[in-house]
Parts: sequence; C-alpha cells; structure tokens
Amino acid sequence: MSGAGQLQPGGLRHYVAAPVSRVQGRIEVPGDKSISHRALMLGAIADGATRIEGFLASEDCLATLAALRALGVHVQRPADSTVQVQGVGLAGLQGSATALDLGNAGTAMRLMMGLLAGQAFDSTLVGDSSLMRRPMERVAQPLRAMGARIDTHQGRPPVLIHGGAGLHAIDYTLPIASAQVKSALLLAALYAHGTTSVLEPAPTRDHTERMLRQFGVQLECRGARIHLTGQQRLHGGTGVRVPGDFSSAAFFIVAGCLAAADGLTICNVGCNPTRTGLLQMLKLMGADIHVQPHCVAPDSPEAAGEPTADIHVRAGPLRGIRVPESLVALSIDEFPVFFIAAAAAEGQTVVTGAAELRVKESDRLAAMAQGLTALGVQCELLPDGLCVQGVGGRAAGRFDGGRIDSHGDHRIAMAFAIASLRARGPLRIDDIANVATSFPGFVPLACSVGLALQEQA
Ligand code: S3P
Repeated sequence: MSGAGQLQPGGLRHYVAAPVSRVQGRIEVPGDKSISHRALMLGAIADGATRIEGFLASEDCLATLAALRALGVHVQRPADSTVQVQGVGLAGLQGSATALDLGNAGTAMRLMMGLLAGQAFDSTLVGDSSLMRRPMERVAQPLRAMGARIDTHQGRPPVLIHGGAGLHAIDYTLPIASAQVKSALLLAALYAHGTTSVLEPAPTRDHTERMLRQFGVQLECRGARIHLTGQQRLHGGTGVRVPGDFSSAAFFIVAGCLAAADGLTICNVGCNPTRTGLLQMLKLMGADIHVQPHCVAPDSPEAAGEPTADIHVRAGPLRGIRVPESLVALSIDEFPVFFIAAAAAEGQTVVTGAAELRVKESDRLAAMAQGLTALGVQCELLPDGLCVQGVGGRAAGRFDGGRIDSHGDHRIAMAFAIASLRARGPLRIDDIANVATSFPGFVPLACSVGLALQEQA
C-alpha cells in the first residue's frame, strides 16, 4: 500500500541537530492543518466556489485534496497555498473507482468517514503503515448507530463504507474527548434526517463548528452539547483564510522559552482557545510569553471564524508542574515538545489523563520516554502519562547528545530538534520524512531562528 508518508527510495532520512544555545527573530509558520482539511471538505460539499488562502500544502492536506478530486470535486491550486474548490453541493460527490489513500492523515480518514457514511456509493479508505494501525471504531460505531454500514479490519483500516444506507439523527455522548470523532459525526449529521445531538466529555478543538457557521449552517452549541439539523445546504462563495498552525508554532514557542534571550516572535498564529492549552501549561511553569491578539473580528469570513495573534516569547527559568488534566485535550498535539520543556525545567513534571497520546501517529508517551532516556533525562512512563525529572533551570542543566528514533512521527522528530537547544552534543533524529505531513519547510525555518539542523539521507 503506498501511503503519502512512506519510505523514500534511498532509505530513512534523518536530522542531525548540532547543539546551539540561542534563537531569535520574527517568523510565521505555515497554515493550520486541521482548518485546511476542513476547508477542503466543507468547500467540496458547498454550493458555489470556495477560495482557501493560507492553505497548508503538506502531505496530509494534499491527501485530502487528492481524495476529494477522486470523489469528483474540481480543485485548482493557483499557488502553493491557495486553493480554489468548486463545490458540488451536499448530494454532488461521486464514488471513486479506487480506494482513497489518506497517507498518514488520521484527521482526513476520520472526517472522511463522516462525510462518506451518508453517500449513495461505496468507498474504501486506506493509509500508510502508521494510519493502518490506528483505531477507527471510535468513529464507525456511532456512525452505525446513525444507520451507516461500515466495516473495519479488527477496528483498524481499511475502512469499507457501504453506500445507500440512509442516515438518521442520534443523540450521542462521546466516550473520549476527540475533535475528529465529533467532526465526523457533525459531517454525517448534515446528511441525516432529524437533529443530531453530540455531547463532549471535555472541550476539544471547535474548528468544524466555527467553519460550518461560516458556510451558513445553523448549529446550536449549548454548553458541551451541539445540535445540528440535517439536510442544510452549505453556502460557498466566500473565502477562507487559514491562520498559522498553533501546533507548528508550538515548536518555536518552546524554543523561545529555552533559548530566546532577546526574544522570538511567531506572527499570525491561530489562537483558538480550544488549541492553546500549551500556553497555559508553560505559563504555569513560569514562562515569559506575551500574546498580542489581532483585531480581526473572529466571526469575519476572512479569519475562518478563528482568532489570531502574534506570540512573543523570551527565555527564562522554567519549573516543573503537575499538568491539570483539564488542559490535556486543549494541548493534545503539543505534548511531544512540552515534554522537552519539562525536561529542561527545574524539578518534576507530571502528566496524567493523556492515554490518547498512545494512539496518535506513534505511541507518543513511549516514544518520548525512550528519546528522553537516550538523552540522559530521567522519566517514568505511566499508563496514561509521563513523569519527567527536569535537568535544571535556566541553562543550568543540559541533556546528553545521542540518537533518537522518531518512530516515523512528525511531532516527535520536531520536538527532539528543539531539544538541541539544551544538548551538550549533537543529536541524530531518525525517520523524519513524515515532518512533511504537517510542516513543510521546518528545517529552513528552524535554521532561520538559529538552530543548526540538517536533513540527511
Ligand atoms: C484533530 C484532532 C485531534 C488531533 C489531531 C487533529 C482534528 O485528534 O490530535 O492532530 O483536526 O480534529 P483527536 O480527535 O483524535 O484527539
């Protein structure tokens, strides 16, 4: 099976990161991955054309784009980060003759399950070796309760969706906090008869809800409960401006906390409060971070319904904390780089309630524990978290150099690149090709602020 993130000819690529102790500058990161996926999908089923600016041209989002083309949607890319989607309307998608290959992209697969569950045609969803191991029943089960006919292979892809099922509304309480499951159900709810109601156990990213509103869909959010009535048409004809990805900015936020003696600014970052738990965790550790919100009204169509800001960071001492479990879902993708901040802090940091990290692109708790241990940082792997013994306060302690296995996980690879700001020897980080799934241009951007990072075959 050829996934977008699989081995390149010539074997696994790796990073070499030489130790440096200073970063500085003013940068922008590429567009938000979650919002780019959603803009493509909602644009595809809208009436009329949608122009997406600031689109993230990464392997994951390009997998969604290719899947939508295979489903009969006309998509043009006048520039790398500009996409024009000619919407086919709610009932306009056509079956693909071949399986839809979503590469490394869990978001693409789970949201597509929701989008395709109510279609008249059959679909098969596959991905790369990492995605083929990830759990899909969390989406398949509630979709079956809506009337969908879906088969998984022992809970994992390939996912076979049988067409012509006819969906009806359900009232569903999510057993886990997952924006992907919530979003899949909201997409399926558009095709269902009646009013679907979804209750979240904890707040998760709400990009789907915000963007559905931008496309003219009426949905009601009452506390943690969302109600959406099916058969509403989506109105294209407006633009979507994708903000910088907070999850990509996170690597530079932590870099700044560790080594920006004169400050580092990351401009135009999406600062939706359901994404920015990392800022709260770092502030609890004593970090010097200042967020300067932009004045664009969050409900303006230009901002994709999302607040944006410039984030200024300055290096300073960090102290270990016990992370409040209420912040876990709000920072779920940032834990790899947060654990690097924890390892550089003075004292112990404890994270619990984060078992979801075990079923991401890799088992991120195990991968981080293994990598930190290789660098001489003491840590204890917990069933649902990690306990990290920091090496010290400001520049006091350093990690060893060494060799890290990223397990093919983009965020593990980038997190350990940031660890080079506190290492006493070079780091070699293996299996980094998947950084292209979320952050094309990571190496040159990291070098522009002062990291000494090289990609090698
Ligand atoms: C995402 C939701 C999160 C996150 C993923 C992107 C989304 O996954 O980890 O990278 O775009 O909805 P879960 O819903 O599985 O927590």
